[in-house]
Amino acid sequence: MPFEKKITVKLSVDAHRRIDEDLDENFYKIPRFVTHIDTGAIDAVTEVYRNYIPVNANVLDLMSSWISHYPEDVHYNRIVGLGMNARELARNKQLDEWLVHDLNLQPELPFRENEFDVCTICVSFDYLIHPISVLKEIGRILKKNGILVITYSNRVFETKATTAWLSLSEHDRKYLIRTYLLESEAFSNIDFIDCSPSTGDPLYAVLASAT
Ligand SMILES: C[S@@+](CC[C@H](N)C(=O)[O-])C[C@H]1O[C@@H](n2cnc3c(N)ncnc32)[C@H](O)[C@@H]1O
Repeated sequence: MPFEKKITVKLSVDAHRRIDEDLDENFYKIPRFVTHIDTGAIDAVTEVYRNYIPVNANVLDLMSSWISHYPEDVHYNRIVGLGMNARELARNKQLDEWLVHDLNLQPELPFRENEFDVCTICVSFDYLIHPISVLKEIGRILKKNGILVITYSNRVFETKATTAWLSLSEHDRKYLIRTYLLESEAFSNIDFIDCSPSTGDPLYAVLASAT
Protein backbone atom coordinates (compact mmCIF):
# COMPACT_ATOMS: atom_id res chain seq x y z
CA MET A 1 0.00 0.00 0.00
CA PRO A 2 1.57 3.35 -0.93
CA PHE A 3 1.77 6.27 1.50
CA GLU A 4 -1.43 8.34 1.30
CA LYS A 5 0.58 11.60 1.38
CA LYS A 6 4.03 12.40 -0.01
CA ILE A 7 5.11 14.18 3.17
CA THR A 8 8.74 14.42 4.21
CA VAL A 9 9.88 15.53 7.67
CA LYS A 10 12.23 18.48 8.12
CA LEU A 11 14.92 17.39 10.57
CA SER A 12 16.01 19.86 13.24
CA VAL A 13 19.66 20.16 14.33
CA ASP A 14 18.91 18.20 17.50
CA ALA A 15 16.84 15.54 15.68
CA HIS A 16 19.08 12.71 16.81
CA ARG A 17 19.83 13.79 20.32
CA ARG A 18 18.49 11.64 23.16
CA ILE A 19 17.68 12.17 26.83
CA ASP A 20 20.26 9.50 27.68
CA GLU A 21 23.40 10.22 25.65
CA ASP A 22 25.41 7.60 27.55
CA LEU A 23 26.91 4.70 25.58
CA ASP A 24 24.24 2.24 24.47
CA GLU A 25 26.28 -0.67 25.82
CA ASN A 26 25.51 0.56 29.33
CA PHE A 27 21.76 0.64 28.74
CA TYR A 28 21.70 -2.80 27.07
CA LYS A 29 24.23 -4.47 29.41
CA ILE A 30 21.54 -6.34 31.35
CA PRO A 31 19.53 -8.77 29.22
CA ARG A 32 15.80 -8.14 28.92
CA PHE A 33 14.01 -11.44 28.36
CA VAL A 34 10.73 -9.65 27.81
CA THR A 35 8.49 -8.97 24.85
CA HIS A 36 8.44 -5.34 23.77
CA ILE A 37 4.97 -5.57 22.17
CA ASP A 38 1.97 -7.73 23.05
CA THR A 39 1.07 -11.09 21.48
CA GLY A 40 -1.32 -9.62 18.93
CA ALA A 41 1.30 -7.19 17.67
CA ILE A 42 3.95 -9.94 17.55
CA ASP A 43 1.56 -12.08 15.48
CA ALA A 44 1.10 -9.11 13.14
CA VAL A 45 4.89 -8.85 12.70
CA THR A 46 5.06 -12.58 11.95
CA GLU A 47 2.33 -12.21 9.31
CA VAL A 48 4.22 -9.37 7.62
CA TYR A 49 7.33 -11.56 7.55
CA ARG A 50 5.33 -14.50 6.18
CA ASN A 51 4.00 -12.29 3.38
CA TYR A 52 7.19 -10.47 2.43
CA ILE A 53 10.17 -12.72 3.19
CA PRO A 54 10.72 -15.26 0.42
CA VAL A 55 11.21 -18.91 1.40
CA ASN A 56 14.93 -19.81 1.57
CA ALA A 57 15.94 -16.15 1.90
CA ASN A 58 19.14 -14.97 3.58
CA VAL A 59 17.86 -12.71 6.33
CA LEU A 60 19.47 -10.11 8.59
CA ASP A 61 17.62 -9.26 11.82
CA LEU A 62 19.05 -5.87 12.72
CA MET A 63 18.63 -4.65 16.33
CA SER A 64 17.79 -8.18 17.34
CA SER A 65 17.21 -9.71 20.77
CA TRP A 66 16.16 -13.12 22.13
CA ILE A 67 13.16 -13.38 19.74
CA SER A 68 12.87 -12.53 16.07
CA HIS A 69 9.20 -13.26 15.27
CA TYR A 70 9.86 -15.11 11.99
CA PRO A 71 7.23 -17.74 11.13
CA GLU A 72 8.39 -21.08 12.52
CA ASP A 73 6.98 -23.07 9.62
CA VAL A 74 8.86 -21.25 6.84
CA HIS A 75 12.40 -22.23 5.90
CA TYR A 76 14.99 -19.49 5.53
CA ASN A 77 18.50 -20.27 4.35
CA ARG A 78 20.38 -18.18 6.89
CA ILE A 79 19.31 -15.81 9.65
CA VAL A 80 21.88 -13.48 11.20
CA GLY A 81 21.05 -11.36 14.25
CA LEU A 82 22.83 -8.13 15.18
CA GLY A 83 22.10 -6.47 18.50
CA MET A 84 23.52 -5.14 21.74
CA ASN A 85 23.21 -7.95 24.26
CA ALA A 86 25.11 -11.22 23.84
CA ARG A 87 22.99 -13.19 26.32
CA GLU A 88 19.77 -12.22 24.55
CA LEU A 89 21.17 -13.07 21.11
CA ALA A 90 22.63 -16.38 22.30
CA ARG A 91 19.17 -17.44 23.48
CA ASN A 92 17.47 -16.57 20.15
CA LYS A 93 16.59 -19.96 18.60
CA GLN A 94 15.83 -18.51 15.18
CA LEU A 95 19.33 -17.15 14.59
CA ASP A 96 21.99 -19.20 12.79
CA GLU A 97 24.61 -16.59 13.66
CA TRP A 98 24.70 -13.48 15.79
CA LEU A 99 26.97 -10.62 16.74
CA VAL A 100 27.06 -7.68 19.12
CA HIS A 101 27.54 -4.43 17.22
CA ASP A 102 26.66 -0.87 18.23
CA LEU A 103 25.12 0.84 15.21
CA ASN A 104 25.24 4.20 16.95
CA LEU A 105 29.03 3.96 17.27
CA GLN A 106 29.57 2.13 13.99
CA PRO A 107 26.83 2.45 11.38
CA GLU A 108 28.95 0.37 8.97
CA LEU A 109 27.68 -3.20 8.75
CA PRO A 110 30.27 -6.00 8.90
CA PHE A 111 28.82 -7.82 5.89
CA ARG A 112 29.60 -8.07 2.19
CA GLU A 113 27.70 -6.33 -0.60
CA ASN A 114 24.61 -8.25 -1.75
CA GLU A 115 24.91 -10.75 1.14
CA PHE A 116 21.22 -10.70 2.16
CA ASP A 117 17.78 -10.91 0.52
CA VAL A 118 15.91 -9.31 3.40
CA CYS A 119 16.67 -7.09 6.40
CA THR A 120 14.20 -6.68 9.25
CA ILE A 121 14.17 -4.10 12.06
CA CYS A 122 11.47 -4.68 14.64
CA VAL A 123 10.41 -2.02 17.18
CA SER A 124 13.91 -0.54 17.28
CA PHE A 125 14.36 1.96 14.47
CA ASP A 126 13.70 4.88 16.84
CA TYR A 127 17.00 4.25 18.66
CA LEU A 128 19.24 4.94 15.65
CA ILE A 129 21.13 8.23 15.81
CA HIS A 130 22.62 7.76 12.31
CA PRO A 131 19.57 6.32 10.54
CA ILE A 132 20.54 7.48 7.06
CA SER A 133 24.04 5.98 7.28
CA VAL A 134 22.59 2.70 8.55
CA LEU A 135 20.03 2.67 5.72
CA LYS A 136 22.77 3.26 3.14
CA GLU A 137 24.60 0.29 4.63
CA ILE A 138 21.48 -1.88 4.53
CA GLY A 139 21.15 -0.90 0.86
CA ARG A 140 24.72 -2.08 0.29
CA ILE A 141 24.39 -5.49 1.96
CA LEU A 142 20.98 -6.23 0.39
CA LYS A 143 20.78 -7.68 -3.10
CA LYS A 144 19.13 -5.49 -5.75
CA ASN A 145 15.37 -5.56 -5.04
CA GLY A 146 16.10 -7.05 -1.63
CA ILE A 147 13.49 -6.09 0.95
CA LEU A 148 13.75 -3.99 4.08
CA VAL A 149 10.94 -4.43 6.63
CA ILE A 150 10.76 -1.86 9.44
CA THR A 151 8.02 -2.53 11.99
CA TYR A 152 7.10 -0.30 14.92
CA SER A 153 4.45 0.23 17.56
CA ASN A 154 3.83 2.97 20.10
CA ARG A 155 6.07 1.58 22.83
CA VAL A 156 9.47 3.11 23.36
CA PHE A 157 12.41 3.38 25.77
CA GLU A 158 11.93 7.16 25.98
CA THR A 159 15.41 8.01 27.20
CA LYS A 160 17.02 6.18 24.28
CA ALA A 161 14.72 7.23 21.42
CA THR A 162 15.68 10.17 19.24
CA THR A 163 14.13 13.61 19.59
CA ALA A 164 12.84 13.31 16.02
CA TRP A 165 10.90 10.14 16.87
CA LEU A 166 9.52 11.42 20.16
CA SER A 167 8.43 14.72 18.64
CA LEU A 168 6.09 13.06 16.13
CA SER A 169 2.73 11.42 16.64
CA GLU A 170 2.36 7.68 16.20
CA HIS A 171 0.72 8.38 12.82
CA ASP A 172 3.41 10.72 11.52
CA ARG A 173 6.39 8.48 12.33
CA LYS A 174 5.94 6.65 9.03
CA TYR A 175 6.83 9.91 7.28
CA LEU A 176 10.03 10.19 9.30
CA ILE A 177 11.05 6.69 8.19
CA ARG A 178 10.09 7.56 4.61
CA THR A 179 12.23 10.70 4.81
CA TYR A 180 15.26 8.72 5.96
CA LEU A 181 14.73 6.12 3.22
CA LEU A 182 14.53 8.82 0.55
CA GLU A 183 17.61 10.59 1.94
CA SER A 184 19.60 7.37 1.91
CA GLU A 185 19.04 7.12 -1.88
CA ALA A 186 19.29 3.35 -1.49
CA PHE A 187 15.61 2.34 -1.68
CA SER A 188 12.52 2.58 -3.87
CA ASN A 189 8.94 1.22 -3.69
CA ILE A 190 8.46 2.61 -0.18
CA ASP A 191 5.17 1.32 1.24
CA PHE A 192 3.31 1.54 4.50
CA ILE A 193 0.93 -0.98 6.06
CA ASP A 194 -1.15 -0.54 9.21
CA CYS A 195 -1.29 -4.13 10.48
CA SER A 196 -2.68 -3.23 13.90
CA PRO A 197 -4.81 -5.89 15.55
CA SER A 198 -8.30 -4.76 16.59
CA THR A 199 -7.19 -4.56 20.24
CA GLY A 200 -3.90 -4.10 22.05
CA ASP A 201 -0.64 -2.64 20.74
CA PRO A 202 -0.73 -1.08 17.26
CA LEU A 203 1.69 -2.40 14.66
CA TYR A 204 2.87 -0.57 11.57
CA ALA A 205 5.23 -1.66 8.80
CA VAL A 206 7.28 0.35 6.33
CA LEU A 207 8.65 -1.71 3.46
CA ALA A 208 11.15 -0.74 0.79
CA SER A 209 13.19 -2.38 -1.98
CA ALA A 210 16.92 -1.94 -2.35
CA THR A 211 17.87 -0.19 -5.59
C1 LIG B 1 12.89 -2.74 21.95
S1 LIG B 1 14.20 -3.85 21.67
C2 LIG B 1 13.58 -4.80 20.30
C3 LIG B 1 14.28 -6.10 20.13
C4 LIG B 1 13.77 -7.02 19.03
N1 LIG B 1 13.98 -6.44 17.71
C5 LIG B 1 12.32 -7.40 19.25
O1 LIG B 1 11.54 -7.32 18.31
O2 LIG B 1 11.99 -7.84 20.35
C6 LIG B 1 15.44 -2.78 20.98
C7 LIG B 1 16.63 -3.54 20.43
O3 LIG B 1 17.45 -2.62 19.73
C8 LIG B 1 18.78 -3.00 19.88
N2 LIG B 1 19.61 -1.81 19.82
C9 LIG B 1 19.43 -0.65 20.51
N3 LIG B 1 20.42 0.23 20.27
C10 LIG B 1 21.24 -0.39 19.40
C11 LIG B 1 22.45 0.00 18.79
N4 LIG B 1 23.02 1.16 19.07
N5 LIG B 1 23.05 -0.88 17.94
C12 LIG B 1 22.49 -2.08 17.67
N6 LIG B 1 21.35 -2.51 18.23
C13 LIG B 1 20.72 -1.68 19.08
C14 LIG B 1 18.87 -3.65 21.26
O4 LIG B 1 19.83 -4.67 21.29
C15 LIG B 1 17.47 -4.19 21.49
O5 LIG B 1 17.47 -5.58 21.29
